Formats: sequence, structure tokens, C-alpha cells
Amino acid sequence: MEIKTIGVVGSGQMGSGIAQVASASGFSVIMNDIKDEFVERGLSAIKKSLDRIVKKGKITGEDRKAVLDRIDGSTSLNDMVKADFIVEAATENEPVKLQIFKDLDENSRNDIILASNTSSISITKIAGITKRPDKIIGMHFMNPVPIMVLVEIIKGIATTDETFRTTMDLSLKMGKTPVPANDSPGFISNRILVPMINEAVYALYEGVGKPEDIDQVMKLGMNHPMGPLTLADLIGLDTCLAIMEVLQKGLGDDKYRPCPLLRKYVDAGWLGRKTGKGFYDY
Ligand code: CAA
Repeated sequence: MEIKTIGVVGSGQMGSGIAQVASASGFSVIMNDIKDEFVERGLSAIKKSLDRIVKKGKITGEDRKAVLDRIDGSTSLNDMVKADFIVEAATENEPVKLQIFKDLDENSRNDIILASNTSSISITKIAGITKRPDKIIGMHFMNPVPIMVLVEIIKGIATTDETFRTTMDLSLKMGKTPVPANDSPGFISNRILVPMINEAVYALYEGVGKPEDIDQVMKLGMNHPMGPLTLADLIGLDTCLAIMEVLQKGLGDDKYRPCPLLRKYVDAGWLGRKTGKGFYDY
């Protein structure tokens, strides 16, 4: 079956980025979220990102229009019946994701693949809630999606080789480099990245350094493009906390305990760039 239309569930920073990249690669896209205002916010993030790319001269104004024209907004999962492949990119919350997959299983054609952009939740568990565990897979994009080349591809215990090959192939068609990872908490990327971010928060919490100094050390000393606290603000502190909790619970090792300061910031609603305040003010 040829994939022509990609459904994206969730229009936040990951969902809108995935919708943008899918459309820019020539696919028709249905971008779904629970409220019109969320879909609108996703579309305006895509416009902003495309504006940057036009300004750089990498695409024309006509290309920009074509990318936007290929994206349809939606607030009903029933629209997903038109999709040939679906990527879920809703909030990193296990009960929410499981419910979405239950609903998607009922609202989409039963011959299509349902992928999750989860950054840490078990693909096997998500698959277990559906009637098509062979067609459930992890497709983990990186933020900002239009720029980052990697997609981690994660098979659950029942995912078939055919589902895996189709998803690897689709990632390449979207201009990304897919890398396989096993279905283990945090996969490869967040097993390594988020404990590093959590350790940077501990360094702040214990007074080892100021935010700017912690970030400068990792930028200038280790050549990271942005420091770990700046990156945490970009990812979202709620997402970082959720991933640490999945690592701690899933791996059963308290070396993955979330830093109390990270939890406190999340409790305060200081979630990073998306709320205007995190380790820095925006
Ligand atoms: N849309 C379009 N273009 C964008 C963009 C966006 N959203 N964000 C950045 N760009 C472009 C800029 O226009 C610029 O283009 P040129 O090279 O043509 O000039 C280029 O990207 C670089 O941007 P900037 O000059 O503004 O800033 P920078 O050099 O610091 O790069 C960055 C920004 C690419 C984000 C870089 O800092 C970086 O790579 N940071 C690390 C990001 C990272 O680690 N992401 C993974 C997060 S973890 C994750 O996503 C998984 C998870 O589950 C938590």
C-alpha cells in the first residue's frame, strides 16, 4: 500500500514539527488535536518555522504555501480514517497515550501502521491496548523536528519486520536518518540525554554552578550546541520529569531519581520556553 496521507495526533511542538516535515516531503497531512485553538497554535508554529526557512532562501514562498496547503487541521479522530499511516505525538503521559491508541485503533483503517512519538513509554504496552500489536511502532523524532536528522525506530515485542521496514522507509522519505533502538525505558536517546539533564539540575540544586555557567561548561568544554539547562527548557521540564520517572520506575534503579528542583519547577508551572519561564526567562 502506498502511503499518501499521514495523520498526526497532537499539534504541540513535536506534532506540528512532524506535520511540517511530512508535508514538506510531499505527503498530505491531517493534524489533529482536541481543541481548535491547539490546532491553530500548531499551524502558526509551522508558519513561523517555514518563514525562517524561506528567509534563509532554502525554499520559496510558493513552497511555503504548498506545505501549508497540504496540511488539514482536525479536532475529530474520525478524520483519521483517511490516513495511510498515523504518528501520535500527544503529551508524554501514559494513561493519555493509551487512551489515544485505543481510540485510534477504532477510528482508523485496520490495515495501517500506528506509530508513537513517545520519548520513553513502552511500545509493547501501547501495542497491548490495541487489536493490531503487529502494526504498532515507536517513531521518536527529535526537537526541533525540522532541523534534527535522527528518528529512533522502536519495535515492540509483537511488531512485525514489515511494519519496521515500512517505518524505516517512511523516515527516509521524510528526509530523516532512522536508527533502531530496543523497547527499553528511554530507548537509546533519552536513556543517555535526560539523566545528563537531570544531573545538570542537581548541579544547580546543590550550588555547584549558576545556570549560565553550567550551560557554558557543556557548550565550550564539550562542544554541545546548547547547554543542558537551555535544552531542558526547549524540551519542556514536564517532559524531562516524565522521562526520569519512566526511567526510575522502568529500570528500578534510584540512580534515575528526578532532581527535587526539577519537580518543584514543574509544580510551579515553570515548564521552559512553552510557558515563558524555566531555568531561564523567555
Ligand atoms: N524551524 C526551522 N529552522 C530552524 C528551527 C525551526 N524550528 N530552529 C532552528 N532553525 C534553523 C535556524 O534558522 C538556523 O538555520 P541556518 O543554519 O540555515 O542559519 C539553524 O537552524 C540553526 O539555528 P540557530 O542559528 O537559531 O541556533 P543554533 O545554531 O543554536 O541551532 C539548534 C539551534 C539546532 C536547536 C541547536 O542549538 C541544537 O542542535 N540544539 C540541540 C537540540 C537537541 O539536542 N535536540 C534534541 C532534544 S531531545 C528530544 O527532542 C527528544 C526527547 O524525547 C526529549
